[in-house]
Amino acid sequence: MKQVQVQVPATSANCGPGFDCLGLALELYNVFTFVPDELATEYSYTFTGLGADLLEQEDPNNNLIGHAMDQVFAKAQEPIQYGHITSDTNIPPSRGLGSSSTAIVGGLLLANSLITNPLSKEELLIIANRMEGHPDNVCPAIYGNLCCAYGTKDKILNTVIPIPEELYFAVVVPEVLVSTEYARSVLPQHVPFKEAVHNVGFASLFVSSLITGQLDNLSVALDDNLHVPYRKTLIPHCDDVFSAAKGAGAYGATISGSGSTLIAYATKDKVEVVAKAMGDTFTNNNVENKIYVLKADSEGAKVV
Ligand code: HSE
Repeated sequence: MKQVQVQVPATSANCGPGFDCLGLALELYNVFTFVPDELATEYSYTFTGLGADLLEQEDPNNNLIGHAMDQVFAKAQEPIQYGHITSDTNIPPSRGLGSSSTAIVGGLLLANSLITNPLSKEELLIIANRMEGHPDNVCPAIYGNLCCAYGTKDKILNTVIPIPEELYFAVVVPEVLVSTEYARSVLPQHVPFKEAVHNVGFASLFVSSLITGQLDNLSVALDDNLHVPYRKTLIPHCDDVFSAAKGAGAYGATISGSGSTLIAYATKDKVEVVAKAMGDTFTNNNVENKIYVLKADSEGAKVV
């Protein structure tokens, strides 16, 4: 039996005002390879790339890739195929760039591909959403582009919207770990009605401006009242980095997913300067960081 290899894009969830429902895919990929072994009675793993040392220490029985593969075999009523999985990570783990979603979506795609793709993308999304808990990372990981997704555990409604060619992303990953669980625990139980109303405006403006190409609107449409004000306290110098991004010519900046990555939206001619200004702001405040200049991914996860 031959090996199967898939790549899954990084994702930036929330996109400012779209808490738990908006997410976009980026051209930065984790690659997962499966080599079937008919004699194996469990999955075995090799980890390379970013965070490999930490992944190696985790219990393989809890690995999301294997769990996701099991879900596909069960849903398709096919026998489980065990073998060796290689996970090569280029996406910084636990930084708000959807690294755990790539493991889930990677496992789903590997298994589906091994049994000649009986499950549709819609069915894979339902499984992924159930495993992840919210659809804003897994949906763009599967479909690429900007996704708006709303779902329950049995049903997901989603749209896929292409990102304008001229829009680029300055992504700055500080050496600050913020777990999604903790970043959700700092959110309030209630927000004032007026602030919620503003968010409806920001989110509607965000999506519609990407559709119409009115990118100047992003200077307002990336604002948020639901999570950014609470989570930015977990990321040192967050406001300074946002200001640096805008000062260098970005439309705006926000927290990627639950952080700690910060992401600025800018045109191609400005994005390098924006990324440098953001990185320098962290560096000048003694926060180590890594910067990326990325385009949106338009294909989503695929067999390579
Ligand atoms: N929407 C989720 C959150 C994404 O912000 O908590 C987590 O990656």
